[in-house]
Amino acid sequence: MPTLTERARLLFPSRAEQGEGDSARLARLLDAFLLLSGAVTAAFLVVAGSHLGAGTRLLTGVMLAALLGIAVLARRGWPRLAAILYLGGLWLFVTLSLWLSGGFRTPAASAYTVVALGAALLFGVRGTAVATAVILISSVGIAVADVRGWLPASPPPSTSAALAVFLASLLSIVGMALYATAELRRAIAGLRVEVEERRAIETRLRESESGVRSIVESSPMGIHLYRLEGPGCLVLTGSNPAGDRILGTPMGPLVGRTIEEAFPGLAGTEVPDRYRRLCAEGGSWRTEITYSDDRSRGTYEVHAFQTAPGMMAVMFLDVTVRRQTEEERRRLEEQLRQSQKMEAVGRLAGGIAHDFNNLLMVIMGHGELLRRSLDANDPRLRKVQHVMGASERAARLVRQLLAFSRKQVMASQVVDLNALVSDTARMLRPLLGEDVKVVTRLDPALGRIHVDPAQIEQVLMNLAVNARDAMPSGGTITFETADVGVPAPAGMAPARQAALSVRDTGHGMDEKTRAHAFEPFFTTKAGSGGTGLGLSTVYGIVQQSGGQIALESAPGRGSCFRILLPCAEGPGEPRETGPAAAAPPAGGETVLVVEDEPAIRALACEMLESHGYLTLRAGSGEEALGLAVRHSGPIDLLLADVVMPGLAGPALSERFAVVRPHARVLFMSGYAADDLARHGLSDDAAQFLPKPFTQDLLARRVREALDG
Ligand SMILES: Nc1ncnc2c1ncn2[C@@H]1O[C@H](COP(=O)(O)OP(=O)(O)OP(=O)(O)O)[C@@H](O)[C@H]1O
Ligand SMILES: [Mg+2]
Repeated sequence: MPTLTERARLLFPSRAEQGEGDSARLARLLDAFLLLSGAVTAAFLVVAGSHLGAGTRLLTGVMLAALLGIAVLARRGWPRLAAILYLGGLWLFVTLSLWLSGGFRTPAASAYTVVALGAALLFGVRGTAVATAVILISSVGIAVADVRGWLPASPPPSTSAALAVFLASLLSIVGMALYATAELRRAIAGLRVEVEERRAIETRLRESESGVRSIVESSPMGIHLYRLEGPGCLVLTGSNPAGDRILGTPMGPLVGRTIEEAFPGLAGTEVPDRYRRLCAEGGSWRTEITYSDDRSRGTYEVHAFQTAPGMMAVMFLDVTVRRQTEEERRRLEEQLRQSQKMEAVGRLAGGIAHDFNNLLMVIMGHGELLRRSLDANDPRLRKVQHVMGASERAARLVRQLLAFSRKQVMASQVVDLNALVSDTARMLRPLLGEDVKVVTRLDPALGRIHVDPAQIEQVLMNLAVNARDAMPSGGTITFETADVGVPAPAGMAPARQAALSVRDTGHGMDEKTRAHAFEPFFTTKAGSGGTGLGLSTVYGIVQQSGGQIALESAPGRGSCFRILLPCAEGPGEPRETGPAAAAPPAGGETVLVVEDEPAIRALACEMLESHGYLTLRAGSGEEALGLAVRHSGPIDLLLADVVMPGLAGPALSERFAVVRPHARVLFMSGYAADDLARHGLSDDAAQFLPKPFTQDLLARRVREALDG
């Protein structure tokens, strides 16, 4: 039900409330008034005409004409002017009637009510006020004039005329009231529809609000709300449960605090300023924030946006784990890429080095034979020595390449890494110079490892020389060992590893150097004769020994190489202190040399013959077997290459043993142990001669094989 004020406002709307569409309503109302007034005036003329004076009749006639004129004016599109003229005319008529008929003794005064009511209906409250004021002033004026006797003398009014006027007024009032009531009814009906509509809108609004609230409450994304309360003062106004869960702390107690108070970890970052600007100027901002304070830490994906001027919302997700996983994946991919690259380069280098090795062996072997055949004062001796010197340098390079490509022949044994490190460190001291301090920190609980000690010495030496180069004005090199357990699958004992680290206090490496350091021929010391093979050799040896190597370094912060080597089972063996320096022993036995490479075959035979042995030669396993059957004399030793087309060394030795059960066997190869294992040869140094070999080594191994 509309309230009283609403009804009053419907009856007396202000002009603003009436709006443009109300001029039609005004015209309609005016039509009704004009019709009513015309009818009443006409009735008045008919009923009271005979009693009226000439002046009054004229006035009434003029009034009828005026009513007609006003009706025309309203139709022509000036309803407002017509309404003003109508009310003004009515007022004038009443006032003149009162004046002429001797003041308020006539009931014509009641017609003022029509003026007031008309003004109310046509012009609203303001119209009523103006009309009331005008009526009041006119009434007082007439009353004063009456008292002072200024009114023209007039006969006392006729009671019936007065009654007619009164009745007419009453009728007009009743008519207007009826009309107003009808209007009011219509308005109320409209209002009811409007109220219903509003109620429906409110219900929908309430539903949508509760929908929005439940989205915010149950959203898996964290949501924080902020309001700008004064310049620079951005206040947290709310947080949803996901926000509390993600940050791991209830935000309730922090509501009402500024962003810097609620999130101290954001103070000093660009975030509060960006939020404030967003709040004030609008727009949205998507970013990733790595945050930490006493209560929460992590990486969050954040989407901030203005919700209304001066207000904003921040939606966020915890992406810490995702970022860590991505970072880990990136690292692993990088590692894989690096190892694939090293593998490819290694294969290439190994292939070249292996072929070179054979060529060098021929050059060096024949060089040596030539040198031995020359007189001490032969002028050609110097030339031969140059050839030998150059080939030895080439052989060193090839050895490094082989080490990198893990194709080096390893003489592995179980050793004590601590002893190896302290011996090498002692040996290195003079090499490193006075300015470099060498520190060793050895873990007494360190397990033994299965490596080629000479190779590990080489590793330590290369790392130490690099460290020295990185500390031109001195510093410290620290060799450290530690026993580390490596987690093993459930149910198995954790594997033990020996960790060896070599740390220096030198100038360190930048990103690019670090990325390429282990690659062969990568060097930053090109000017001072660096070959770039030091670290690649280290890398190859560690890999071949079943270990891993990692590098940590930053410019100005030194470098640290960490090597992990698997611990060996079983007791250690005493370290070989190098081959005996005695002259290589000779002999007179018969050796069958089986080698597919003719130059090497010839060289080996020539070397053996120069030591007094008799030689038989074969270019393949099959040929060797035939020879073994055909040869009438003894064959004491089979010296066979491991890798040959057709019948390979180990298979040959088995068949050979059937024909010559008493012959000894010595294998030779330029391949590394893992390749030999593939050809069925165990990793036993005693029956094995690594290529390239010198005449001395060949003689010694042949002797050992024959005597063993
Ligand atoms: N301890 C270190 N500190 C700083 N940089 C190093 C260190 N070790 C190696 N490097 C960098 O890695 C590069 C490659 O080292 P690597 O030992 O393979 O070759 P090199 O030392 O340059 O040459 P060569 O070993 O033949 O003398 C070096 O040129 C140097 O830039
Ligand atoms: Mg080096």
